[in-house]
Amino acid sequence: MRPPRTKTVEESIRDTEAPEHRLRRHLGALDLTVFGVGVIVGTGIFVLTGRVARDNAGPAVALSFVVAAIVCGLAALCYAEFAATVPVAGSAYTFAYATLGEFPAWVIGWDLVLELALGAAVVSVGWSGYFTTLLATLGVELPPALAGEDATINIPAMVIVLILTLILVLGIRVSARTNLALVILKVAVVLLVIVAGIFFIRGANYTPFIPPAQETPHVEGLGAPLIQVLFGVTPTAYGVAGIFSAAAIVFFAFIGFDIVATAAEETKNPPRDMPIGILGSLAVCTALYVGVSLVVVGMVPYQRLSSAAPLADAFREVGQPWLATVISIGAIAGLTTVVLIMMLGQSRVLFSMSRDNLLPRPLATVHPKYGTPARVTVIIGVVTALLAGFIPLSALAELVNIGTLFAFVIVSIAVVVLRRTRPDLPRAFRTPLVPLIPILSVLASIYLMLNLPVETWLRFIVWMIIGVVVYFLYGRRHSRVGRSAAGTKEAPLV
Ligand code: ALA
Repeated sequence: MRPPRTKTVEESIRDTEAPEHRLRRHLGALDLTVFGVGVIVGTGIFVLTGRVARDNAGPAVALSFVVAAIVCGLAALCYAEFAATVPVAGSAYTFAYATLGEFPAWVIGWDLVLELALGAAVVSVGWSGYFTTLLATLGVELPPALAGEDATINIPAMVIVLILTLILVLGIRVSARTNLALVILKVAVVLLVIVAGIFFIRGANYTPFIPPAQETPHVEGLGAPLIQVLFGVTPTAYGVAGIFSAAAIVFFAFIGFDIVATAAEETKNPPRDMPIGILGSLAVCTALYVGVSLVVVGMVPYQRLSSAAPLADAFREVGQPWLATVISIGAIAGLTTVVLIMMLGQSRVLFSMSRDNLLPRPLATVHPKYGTPARVTVIIGVVTALLAGFIPLSALAELVNIGTLFAFVIVSIAVVVLRRTRPDLPRAFRTPLVPLIPILSVLASIYLMLNLPVETWLRFIVWMIIGVVVYFLYGRRHSRVGRSAAGTKEAPLV
């Protein structure tokens, strides 16, 4: 039986065919993999590795990356099926609309704002930190009030967001080409860290590989992982529990493979290209992360890793400042592509939501000359720039994680639902071992969510409550699917 207010897969695909709402199809499997690596490798590896090794896991942070990769791999197998089956812009939002109904779809669309717009803002603040550090090494000191994480107004973060907004408005072709050059530079720098770093590893830094559990101020009060509070244990860092709380944070480093699915509508052959793009980019990144984290904790005792620019600083520690500078440049390039693609993903999700009238429909208009959803892109750019400019966002990376993991839960459930409700649909990629893999994916994602701090849960719940209120005040009344079900005339297009 169809849940009320579900859009069929055919309806979703048909919606993409009206000329004024149609995006161009021009991406292949390689483009998608580059796109994936472009958004995946970023703040997670360049910034969070150091903080997490120091505060949560010690040298065992490499295992935390493996744990996070397993969670993502399970979700990726589910994302790949739906992106091959429902090749429509909007990712998890569209998929939920076709399977679970309008309200869950709205919830997921609202939730994705955490992942995408807030994620872009978080990464642009990280970008600003590296940019400021690089300028400082060139002798240009920016005033701390105007740059860096503790700035009153973070000017570099705002400027980079606005420049990238312009690139997105001008068209995905421009951004795909820019992206390719930046991704190559970024991956080269990550490989450089691994290859050059190997020569500076000291075996003693690996013992103990899993430091014994201990109480620390980082995991007290609302900062304690929910799971430790729920089970009434005294919150601790390090030890085996520390590997998992670190995994819930470095999970941020993998965010992005799911964003590849948002480009389904612009892909030439989604059934073939989507699974390759999603799983391929995840595999490449896992290998890079495990390599980098093993090398960095081998170079510097974990207690001494810096939290702002750990990869660059590790080379400074071993007396190689020029390598540190090269790495900073790579990090800046890397973080640029992440912000770019997160904003791109966000624009496609909001575009789809407006096309369905859950948000004002005029937002879903494509620019006549550039073929891009220019209106939503500009709005997202301005909001992201304001967030990046005025809010200190370091702790909010965890809010991005919880939002993304929640999306994984819904997508994994939706794969099973769609198999039951629409067994007839052609699926060029099928998630193996259904329902086992989706169930494991749900459990693994929830487990990582439980490893996030209590305060993250509180923020997440508040955001979702606001979303539910907006839906009942606006989306539910205007919804295109709701109106056609009720026989009401559809709202005019613009
Ligand atoms: N995975 C992306 C990063 O690490 C979000 O910055």
